[in-house]
Amino acid sequence: MTEVEIKKILNGIKADKASLPTRYLYDNLGGILFEAITELPKYNATRDELDIFRDKLDEIAEVLPDNACLIDLGAGSCRKAAHVIPSLQPSRYIAVDLPSDFFVQSVSSLENKFPHLTVNSLSLDFSQGFKVEQVRKLQGKNSNQEPLVYFYPGSTVGNFNPDESMKFLKDLSADGILIGVDLIKPPEVLLAAYNDKLGVTAAFNRNALLHLNRDLGTNFDVELWGHEAIFNDEKSRIEMHLVSLENQIVESSHGEILFRKGQTIHTENSYKYTVDSFKAILDSAGYNNLNSFVHSSERYAMFTATKDL
Ligand SMILES: C[S@@+](CC[C@H](N)C(=O)[O-])C[C@H]1O[C@@H](n2cnc3c(N)ncnc32)[C@H](O)[C@@H]1O
Repeated sequence: MTEVEIKKILNGIKADKASLPTRYLYDNLGGILFEAITELPKYNATRDELDIFRDKLDEIAEVLPDNACLIDLGAGSCRKAAHVIPSLQPSRYIAVDLPSDFFVQSVSSLENKFPHLTVNSLSLDFSQGFKVEQVRKLQGKNSNQEPLVYFYPGSTVGNFNPDESMKFLKDLSADGILIGVDLIKPPEVLLAAYNDKLGVTAAFNRNALLHLNRDLGTNFDVELWGHEAIFNDEKSRIEMHLVSLENQIVESSHGEILFRKGQTIHTENSYKYTVDSFKAILDSAGYNNLNSFVHSSERYAMFTATKDL
């Protein structure tokens, strides 16, 4: 990391409304903990998405281009890709995620499952936009033949605010997209998913501090931080925060940071949408042929769309 990047992150955690980039939740352990979250009884997004695949994949495959280059944004365990590849029949699969051993192993086990498919991976941070040139390099001479279909499951797009989501989706050089979005539901249902009683989400959140210690050389003590998830009704988002459990001093390469008891660091937003409000984002981002595939519980939806470039 450059000094400028380190300073930017330290300034973020020292600010009055302290925050940490969401990518700090994901490292090797973060990837494993996220997979554990998807098994929690009250975290339904993954199960709902897999139900939609089970019931609707044939319809989904019909509206997306054939022989595509399937680009999985935030692929994680690549588990969802393993479900859709047999129906979507892409000619190439590109997994994109932050660098971690967890990601490397996930891609390698997907490759083993589909030995005849061309599988590539890109370890990078797409929070400032995803650049198609990286895909073109991997495609080489096939770059004119393979339509680009983005696979963006897990409601990962919900980490962006609605304006950022629109811009991110607009800037994708896409022929088609298959995207999953968590829908608005009663706050108590949402909060139960993010405040699980086993403490898995708390561990996922606190692990960001271990990641930060490794990257920045800080000495955060995870035992001195609690997990808090709240629903911000006005912004229609779940917010995750870390809460300082006592007055404490954290050392960094740029001096000491004082945290008072109760002070928080904002680590993640997870925006929730209605089917119409998310369709409006896809529409503003220049997509056409919008289709929604809503789970029977109305908790979760997948959208397909195409884009005339
Ligand atoms: C909510 S998880 C979803 C994982 C998987 N797609 C699924 O649906 O189960 C978000 C994934 O996006 C990745 N991710 C988050 N922020 C990212 C970023 N800025 N750049 C690249 N990958 C990112 C995480 O590492 C993680 O694997």
